[in-house]
Amino acid sequence: MVSYKYKNSFIFGGKVLIFKEYMAKIKDIPKIDRPRERFLQKGPDALSKSDLLAILLGSGIKGKNVQKLAQQIIKRFGKNFLNITVDDLQDISGIGQAKALQIVSAISLVKRFHEESAAIDIIIKNSKDVLSVVYDLQDKKKEYLVCLYLNARNALIKKEIISVGLLDKSLVHPREIFHPAIELNSASIILVHNHPTGDPNPSEKDRIVVERIAQAGEIMGISVTDFLITAKNGSHSFYGSLKNVTDVDYVAEGVQARLFDLMELERPSYEIAAETIKENYFYIPQTKENHVQLHNRRYIGGKSKLIDWIFSIIKEECKGDCFADVFAGTGVVSAVAAKHFKKIILNDFLHSNYVIYQAFFGKGEWDKNKIDSIIKDFNNISAEDLDDNYFSDNFGGKYFSKNSSKIIGFIRESIEKNKKNLTGREYFMLIASLLYSIDKIANTVGHYDAYFKKDQLSDDFFMRPIDPIETQEVFIFQEDTNALAKKIKADIAYIDPPYNSRQYSRFYHVLETLTKWNKPELYGVALKPAPENMSDYCTTSAKDKFAELVNDIDARYLVVSYNNTYDSKSSSSKNKITLQEIEKILKLKGKTKVFEKKHKHFNAGNTNFDNHKEYLFVTKVSHA
Ligand SMILES: C[S@@+](CC[C@H](N)C(=O)[O-])C[C@H]1O[C@@H](n2cnc3c(N)ncnc32)[C@H](O)[C@@H]1O
Repeated sequence: MVSYKYKNSFIFGGKVLIFKEYMAKIKDIPKIDRPRERFLQKGPDALSKSDLLAILLGSGIKGKNVQKLAQQIIKRFGKNFLNITVDDLQDISGIGQAKALQIVSAISLVKRFHEESAAIDIIIKNSKDVLSVVYDLQDKKKEYLVCLYLNARNALIKKEIISVGLLDKSLVHPREIFHPAIELNSASIILVHNHPTGDPNPSEKDRIVVERIAQAGEIMGISVTDFLITAKNGSHSFYGSLKNVTDVDYVAEGVQARLFDLMELERPSYEIAAETIKENYFYIPQTKENHVQLHNRRYIGGKSKLIDWIFSIIKEECKGDCFADVFAGTGVVSAVAAKHFKKIILNDFLHSNYVIYQAFFGKGEWDKNKIDSIIKDFNNISAEDLDDNYFSDNFGGKYFSKNSSKIIGFIRESIEKNKKNLTGREYFMLIASLLYSIDKIANTVGHYDAYFKKDQLSDDFFMRPIDPIETQEVFIFQEDTNALAKKIKADIAYIDPPYNSRQYSRFYHVLETLTKWNKPELYGVALKPAPENMSDYCTTSAKDKFAELVNDIDARYLVVSYNNTYDSKSSSSKNKITLQEIEKILKLKGKTKVFEKKHKHFNAGNTNFDNHKEYLFVTKVSHA
């Protein structure tokens, strides 16, 4: 194995170190600019968070004055500062155990006092608590939509009027609701709406708004606990009606209520052949703190939420040793298949997905200490020490903050420059870690067709290593599926093509650009490269391509995922092949069963489609 030095100088090519030698020492800063002096003259309110922390730290280390050190900590932990641990702090060069204890003790002390004074908070445990804080709404002559923002203890942080006037999905944008939720660091929200007619029963429009907001909450990671309607003649709780209870308790059995979960649990319109699902098929890795796992990604058409259902059917219907995931996307289906089948074939034509498969499923050698050490060094890079680069020039202030994108571009360049010092697996693991880490902080709804317009983006980049998956035999391809189908042989071919005209290569272009790192010219507001890997499955030839694939692929069972957005109002989300066409094509190959499930899927756009169903077609190929 190649020997590797983990020193900063090695990775940064010396440049940063040289710069650091000239960094100002605290004694070189004019007295009035020093935190302690400013505190004494102007009081604590005149100091920034990092200045206050600098006072607590007392001193810096050689090459990093105390203000720099404090800024680095504030930037690294951002909103998570109050949850910092001694271990987290000791990861930062310049912070030893004594200083780490000092900071964590100060935080704990303040938290303790704050908790005691917060005992008079309004705690919202049930629908009655909600109605008592919005008692005035039922008398209003106009329709109101009010949002209650709650913290993790269900204490009310803020009550805000979101809209006045008729409730309509086109008038209530999730942004209006979730923007304050993010600002307030709110853990959950409850929405209340009044019906001036006096009738509390929900209308169709109410239902559409609820679904849209619950789905947006799921994407944002903020629980939408309930949507209540209040009126002269009573009240209606969506949570209560979905749970079929009149006494609505949001923290029953110690579990926080979430509307989304209940919507997910709506009964499928007919039962699947495999009756109750007892086994948990989903790949649940041992959660390793500070590691990213394969499924920690938002991906259009990703199957992580359907995995139990899919495998309950596959287990009943199919037999064999070799599983081919020919449109593998995130790879979550293969991760589960790896638990049940000896041999896995993974394929997707995107570069970013190929890198992810090599990193998570690959078989090459790698050294955990080396990866952890390199990532630790990367996390100690400060944007102020860096010049602009390809990534920050293009994406800075758009998909990521200027500082985060400088660091991301610098890290990607460092990985490329040091490729010769890494094994193939380590190279892929570092890029995959970078990819997951940037995806987590991207200023988007989860794909890169657009970014939010914001004046200020936070500098919250932090890199975490990936947690690879144990497999037996794996074959990884990056090919057009129809071409690959002519070359492989499998027992089960799982076919999950795109369903509509949205091209994956265009939606995930930032990840493609980052992984390929050929620094192409980028175009348009969304900064996309020239088109590449455009799928026929997103065009009018989808049906013919599918028929060709089904005809060519050599497998004993074909398992096809598709959904029913064919009738969607938005043309981009309309299905390219109808369900009837799929069934007809598959029946030419053998006996075909169709399974159906209601599902709220991640589309991350404005498209509204109320009747999402997922389908799984299973064909037992004749004469195979
Ligand atoms: C619906 S997604 C698959 C989702 C995946 N099953 C998961 O759970 O994450 C379809 C995938 O097919 C890939 N794809 C589309 N057309 C392709 C083609 N012609 N050849 C290979 N991959 C293709 C896309 O990049 C995308 O990742």
